[in-house]
Amino acid sequence: MNDLDQLVDQASGDFARATTPAALEDAKARYLGKAGQVTDLLKRLAALPADEKKVRGAEINQVKQRIEAALQARRQALAEAELDAQLKAEALDVTLPGRRRGPGGLHPVSRSMERIEAIFGSMGFDVADGPEIEDDWYNFTALNTPEDHPARSMHDTFYVDTRGPRGGHLLRTHTSPMQVRYAVQHVKRHAGSAQMPEIRVIAPGRTYRVDSDATHSPMFHQCEGLWIGENVSFKDLKAVFADFFRHFFETDDLQIRFRPSFFPFTEPSAEVDIAFASGPLKGKWLEVAGSGQVHPNVVRNFGLDPERHIGFAFGMGPDRLTMLRYGVNDLRLFYEGDLRFLSQFK
Ligand code: DAH
Repeated sequence: MNDLDQLVDQASGDFARATTPAALEDAKARYLGKAGQVTDLLKRLAALPADEKKVRGAEINQVKQRIEAALQARRQALAEAELDAQLKAEALDVTLPGRRRGPGGLHPVSRSMERIEAIFGSMGFDVADGPEIEDDWYNFTALNTPEDHPARSMHDTFYVDTRGPRGGHLLRTHTSPMQVRYAVQHVKRHAGSAQMPEIRVIAPGRTYRVDSDATHSPMFHQCEGLWIGENVSFKDLKAVFADFFRHFFETDDLQIRFRPSFFPFTEPSAEVDIAFASGPLKGKWLEVAGSGQVHPNVVRNFGLDPERHIGFAFGMGPDRLTMLRYGVNDLRLFYEGDLRFLSQFK
């Protein structure tokens, strides 16, 4: 075999070893490229005498054609292999049954919200809805939490803007601003009547705080409650809670206690704890709500006389109630949208 036949062999071998189009083009460059071996041979022709040049030139051109043919064959083989692989990967089995769309179901937290509304509804509470982008005034100031009040730092707030007639806008950090919005409307509606009907309302909805871990999500739910009359006491609130929790958890076997606490908009304030008499959480006190007698400053912001109108407010977390009801230990599961988790609640 002469040197030229050897070169053709070597090139064919290189091309065969290239398994991708890119590798094949690299191999091509080593022979036919600007600095390739065939190109090099052609360049060296110039130094030969005229008669030798003619013979050698014809031989090299033949080699070049054979290498180009080998390259072309390999290009085609690689393209066919690629198409084959693609067809295999995209194989469509028309005999398979179609993918069905199963019937949907309510999100577990939505189920809790509906239950909360139904139970309080049966006790004569109205259900109110309000804005999630809230004025600073309703979210804080009207609730006896003026600017620079240390209690503001209890909430890690998402601010939207800081200017506006009512102190700028924020994503409400709790549903408590609905106390003021609802009460003001109620008072206006009944202005002039000899006897103002009691205010009895719950306001469930989304709330927001800069917070995220197994038990906190930046978006979470709260349900506010407000009950204002001329003769409402802690005793009434306790009875309402007892009724609510027994219905919500579908058991009479639970205890309720008020534990002294602090909220700027109530005085006195209490955390509400419940304990189940049986089940996996048996005997454990679980915090389920905040509550208290509405602070006179807040009653004044309702447009009412705190000497005459008295009442209670409470706030609870439907997410937490849902976790307790179904035994879920990570709040984030509710918001990841994983159907394997969610479809268990249908
Ligand atoms: N707004 C309170 C919070 O987000 C919860 C709360 C506590 C609401 C006591 C109330 C209340 O109405 O009386 O932490």
